[in-house]
This record gives sequence, structure tokens and C-alpha cells, in this order.
Amino acid sequence: MFKSIEFASKPAKNAVIVAAVFAEELKLPARLDAGKPDRAALQSALKTPGFKGECGECAVSDSTHIVLGLGKKDEFTADALRTAAARLIRRLDRIAPKATHLLIADTIPGRRLDVESAGRAMAEGLALANWRFDEFAGKASKNKPAHPALAISSDDSRFDEGIESGLALAEATNYARQIAATPPNVCNPAWVASEARKLARSTGLKCTVIDYAAAVKRGMGGIVNVGKGSASKPCLVMLEHKPAKTARHATLALVGKTITYDTGGYSLKINNGMKGMKYDKCGGCAVLGAMAAIAALKLPVHVVGLLPCAENMVSDDSYRPDDIISMYNGVTVEVTNTDAEGRLVLADAITYADKDVKATHIVELSTLTGGIVVALGHFCAGVFCNHDDLLKRVNAAAESSGEKIWRMPLWSEHKEFMRSQHADLINSNPARSAHPVQGAAFLDYFVDAKTPFAHIDIAGVGNTEKDTDLAPTGPTGWGVRMLFDLTRSFAR
Ligand code: BES
Ligand code: ZN
Ligand code: ZN
Repeated sequence: MFKSIEFASKPAKNAVIVAAVFAEELKLPARLDAGKPDRAALQSALKTPGFKGECGECAVSDSTHIVLGLGKKDEFTADALRTAAARLIRRLDRIAPKATHLLIADTIPGRRLDVESAGRAMAEGLALANWRFDEFAGKASKNKPAHPALAISSDDSRFDEGIESGLALAEATNYARQIAATPPNVCNPAWVASEARKLARSTGLKCTVIDYAAAVKRGMGGIVNVGKGSASKPCLVMLEHKPAKTARHATLALVGKTITYDTGGYSLKINNGMKGMKYDKCGGCAVLGAMAAIAALKLPVHVVGLLPCAENMVSDDSYRPDDIISMYNGVTVEVTNTDAEGRLVLADAITYADKDVKATHIVELSTLTGGIVVALGHFCAGVFCNHDDLLKRVNAAAESSGEKIWRMPLWSEHKEFMRSQHADLINSNPARSAHPVQGAAFLDYFVDAKTPFAHIDIAGVGNTEKDTDLAPTGPTGWGVRMLFDLTRSFAR
């Protein structure tokens, strides 16, 4: 692991040279063939016995020149490049150089991926795979100390631009991962609020916090009731990016479920189903990361990030099944299950986005249901959205970021399913069917019908239980890059 990965506009003297080849070609780009000084060393690496050019395969010559395989040309995508880059950084980790120079732009087939996007994917792969969470590593830690910073440069100015934005996006994603990995005895609602304030100070975002007393006063019954059982009281954290010039009249609200710990409350999680529920704040962490990236890369879009923060605990002051609570928009809810808490805090945040922020578009991310994991596994998130234009933008952002999303249904029948005999709504139908859709149907009661709204259930992708190319076991930071690309779509 390198301490950090940094962009350099010029190659350092002792930089490890990296060129890329496709599996069926095993051919260096013409520009390199035309007598560049590194050609001979790269050619000798290319001749490494058994080297096939598979995605991420590295052939090394003298620890100074590497040929990186990109896999088959007709299977090549930005995702393949991210994977190749992730495998490259693991190889570089064994060499531990101070710098690497990427001669890759010429190899990328233009019609499949533009050079800037290639640079971005490359940098994302390198920096995402270089992350580890060692803040709590103690005296018995076996972690190897990190190598000094790695500087990366390339031979193409557009590739360079991509590297710079890719590094910023990976940094924002790694920041989201770091918040998500922070254990619940440290990361409680008050801690999230202080981290958001810190982020605002370092990025120029504006941070406002509606604290517990203010939430009670405003009648935010969802946030108040879910969070009141904890010693760390709930709050609504807001981060605003308001550039002087925006490309169009739009205010985008990004809402993220931030349950710092979900015990289930009195509908307690059983059979150790509680383990891992520190990741129930991954929606909020993604929004924090996205806001950081939006500010760092100065997107000309008005964006408000909203994090309803609460810890779902058991105490003499906790809410209970059978309580009837009154939400911020005046709708009443019969609590049928205290473990369906996410939709309650989100509902108030969505009302706030509509009523107070006057958002023109609302996109919400949450680890909302175990049911979405049953339906879609850990391969993608589920999106519920009945607004064609917004859905198109979300799908395009999922495609360009490589953070996959699949559409789920949300019909009036599902909304009827959430009606109560004793109040307006129930928060969960005891019939226990269509769980992921129930969550979406409930939330839909809190959005103005005219406001385009997307609910994205990330319960399957917020954290990974096995090491992957881009993320070690733990939080993935899923959504930071997708939300950034989505926001960028409003900048044109
Ligand atoms: N935070 C959970 C959802 C969850 C489950 C996320 C597993 C990640 C992994 C959520 O608050 C919850 O408990 N949902 C219940 C809903 C039910 C009570 C209606 C669920 O999924 O079982
Ligand atoms: Zn729950
Ligand atoms: Zn939850």
C-alpha cells in the first residue's frame, strides 16, 4: 500500500514505465515501436513466457518496465481498465517505486472509451485498490507500513485530465469508506455531524445541522422517534454546494440513510443479524463523498446533501411497535416494525428536500431492505423511479461509473399495501412480501408527485464480505461516483 497516489504533470526520473496490450494482439502501440528509449525493455517484458495479456496480468522487466494486459479487445470497457489498474497497483506494491509513468493512451481504442475517461478509470482503479482502513490498527497489528506516496504521470494531456478527476473521485470514495468503516461506538449521529462540519470547512460547502431539539420543534416525527432511544440524539445534517454560476435552473437533493447503528430497536435483530449494521449509514456516507467530489471538481450545479442521522437502539425511551407517530409532512404512521426505521428517517428528510430546500429533483440512497439482497444479490443496487428523464440519467450515471443498477417496479397497488387501519400508513406490512418495494412505496407518500424522485436500495452493495479487485472486505463507498456522474448530467 502507498501512503497516497498523486498526479504528476511530468514523469519522474526513476518512474516505472507501464504500457498496455490487448490479449489477442500482444503488441505495443506504434508510437512506442517508433524508437522510444523504453521500447527494448518493454519488448523483453512482453516476451515473458506464459504472458497472455489477460486483464490485469503484469509482465515485468527489471522492476522498471511493466506490460499490463487489458484482456480481449472486444470485452474492453472502463470497468476492465479499473480492474487492470487495481491489479497493477498490487504488482507495483511489490516493487514500491516512488513514481510510475503510464504509456497507455495510445492503446485505448477510441470508439470504446475516450482517452479522458480511460485516464479517469485508470486512476480510480489504482487509488480505490490502494485503500485500507487502518485507523484502529493497534499494537498487535500485522499491517506492513505504507510505502511513501506514488506519483503517476502519462504521455497524453487528456489522459492526464482523466487521471486528475479519477484521483479526486477515488479520494472521495475512500473518504466515504473511511466514515462507513468507523465503528458505531465512535461514529454516532453527533460524530457524523462534526465530520460533516469538518468536510464543509475543508471544501467550501455550507453545513447546517437541525439538531434534536429543532427536529422536535419542527415535528420531524420520523427522525425523532427512530433516534430518541439512543444517548446520541438524532439530527438532520445538510451540506450545500451553491456555485455562483450554474448551467441550468435545477436544485438536486441527494438524500442518504445514515443509521449509525441498527439494532432493529424493540423489533430486535436476532441470530446475530445485527452484526455489520454499522454499515446502515452507507447511504449517508455516499452522499458525504459525493458532496466532497462535487465541491472539489466544482460542478456548476446547485446540490444539497441531506443526511438524516439516528441510532436505532433499545431503551426506556425508544419507540415501539404499535406507536402512532406524526411525520414532518403531517402524515401519521402506525409503527408495525421498529426495524423498518430507515424509511421513517428518510421520509422526513425527503419532505425537507421538497418543502424547505425546494429541490427540483430528489435522489435517495439507502441500505433499506435485506429483500433487495435476496432479489439482486451483491451485483447491483435496485432503483425505483417512475420519472423517465431522471431514470435515464441514473442509468447513464450507473453505466459511466461502473456502479450497476437495476430497475424495480413501484405501482399504485404497492402504495395501497402500506395503508393502516389505525393511522394513515404502516411502516411495514406484516404480510412480509415485496419488502424492497414496500420501502419504496412508503417513501413515495412523502414526495410531491411533480418532483422527480429516485429511491436506490444499496443494501447489497454498500459493503462487501469478500475482498474484490477494487475494495477489500468492508465498505465499498458505492454511490459516490454514480452520484457524481448523475450530478454532472445536470451541468450541461
Ligand atoms: N438496515 C436494514 C436493512 C439491511 C438488511 C441492510 C441487511 C443490509 C443488510 C433495515 O433497516 C431493515 O432492518 N429492514 C428490514 C425491513 C423489514 C423490517 C420490513 C429487513 O430488511 O428485513
Ligand atoms: Zn432496520
Ligand atoms: Zn436499517
